[in-house]
Amino acid sequence: MNVKNNILELFGNTPLIRLNKITKGLKAEVYAKMESMNPGGSVKDRIGLNIILDAEKNGLIKPGGTIIEATSGNTGIGLALAAAVKGYKCIFVMTDKCSVEKVRYLKALGADVIVVPSTAKPNSPEYYVNTAERIARETPNSFYATQYTNPSNPEAHYKTTGPEIWEQTDGRITHFVASMGTGGTISGTGRFLKEKNPSVKVIGADPYGSIFKTYKESGIVIEGTPYLVEGIGQERIVENVHFQYIDEIINISDKDSFNMSRRLAREEGIFSGGSTGTVLCAALKVARELDKGSLVVFTVCDTGERYLSKHHSDEWMREKRLLEKDKTTVALAYQTKISGGLPRLVSASPDEILGDALRKMEDYNISYLPVIESNKSLGLIDEAEIMGKLLDSPDLSNKTVGEVMSDPLPVVDESEDIKVAITNLKKSPAVLVSEYGNIVGILTRYDVLDFV
Ligand SMILES: Cc1ncc(COP(=O)(O)O)c(C=O)c1O
Repeated sequence: MNVKNNILELFGNTPLIRLNKITKGLKAEVYAKMESMNPGGSVKDRIGLNIILDAEKNGLIKPGGTIIEATSGNTGIGLALAAAVKGYKCIFVMTDKCSVEKVRYLKALGADVIVVPSTAKPNSPEYYVNTAERIARETPNSFYATQYTNPSNPEAHYKTTGPEIWEQTDGRITHFVASMGTGGTISGTGRFLKEKNPSVKVIGADPYGSIFKTYKESGIVIEGTPYLVEGIGQERIVENVHFQYIDEIINISDKDSFNMSRRLAREEGIFSGGSTGTVLCAALKVARELDKGSLVVFTVCDTGERYLSKHHSDEWMREKRLLEKDKTTVALAYQTKISGGLPRLVSASPDEILGDALRKMEDYNISYLPVIESNKSLGLIDEAEIMGKLLDSPDLSNKTVGEVMSDPLPVVDESEDIKVAITNLKKSPAVLVSEYGNIVGILTRYDVLDFV
């Protein structure tokens, strides 16, 4: 039979995939090391397993023991998978910056999760690492994984990620680009590759706000500032970043990181987290300067599925003002409106009695009632206008909507830029939104003003 004995046998041995579209015009080849294809969906599965294997070997963890760690989520998932197979309990401390998907994932794997504020400074007891340390001290029969200092972390990449990349590229790799959170990936893989060929360049991708780049270039530890990309960068120096194996560090913004991760999905079919966007931005910056024969490998740190409520959501990107301008479509304005819980579309047919239509407007508390039949915008009941007419002749309320309605609202396709809706709204109090030819909603001047 061609079977595996348990899920742990699937850790590592991830494929290397060539990029073909994002790299158009570049002379160098660029390959994605697909760490998102590990069973837990990230580069951190490798270290989760290695840390536990080493702890068992060194007698640091006993049967029935509890594993404790401070994690941005992914190391927790790697540890929790290995712990599930091996029968250990887990307690993880995360910051409130981490996506809810990661917290739920860890709980689904049987772990306890404690969430602390991401604003806590490294010297405060609430800081996520300090909280994990305290829980480790207070929990009997526990093992504190300490990914930031534990040599089993970079060692996992020295033993597996480095050799895999070397073999997969037939030793042709010239540049390795990775992000730095704990530093395990870049330090272990970088060390292996440089031992094989000292001229391989190792490049770190670092979010603006993190301290690594300044420290590498000046030896000064600046005060970190907040950024949104998860799992990478630091506000303090960590032991597992081995700067001697890193040739250069490149800063990348949140906006570039997230938009690049979104492009990677749309153009290459590789669904990734935000830190992968950071790494790819740096990899492309490097690759643009290289000649034919150069071969760049970058890490796809984790899968995009755990960021569906974050940078893979247009609404979230817009809220954080990170969306590329051309993405502010009518669809996004409409989604933003209905995510507030408003009814999708209330309309009338032309043969409905006006009195009934007015009651409907009152029930839904709306001022504009579009008249629609067979997906065509035929007319409009405008509350202000019709009330004026009713004051003159109250029996109008017994007439049909078709007899009293005013001019129809324009219809704008959801794929159009929001500017198209705005142009229409200069002449009309509202526009109807169509999706593949079906009228699905209405945007009033107020809705669009609220959106822009
Ligand atoms: C999403 C994500 N990307 C990148 C990294 C960085 O990897 P490393 O800790 O090996 O530097 C991490 C680490 O937790 C991560 O969670």
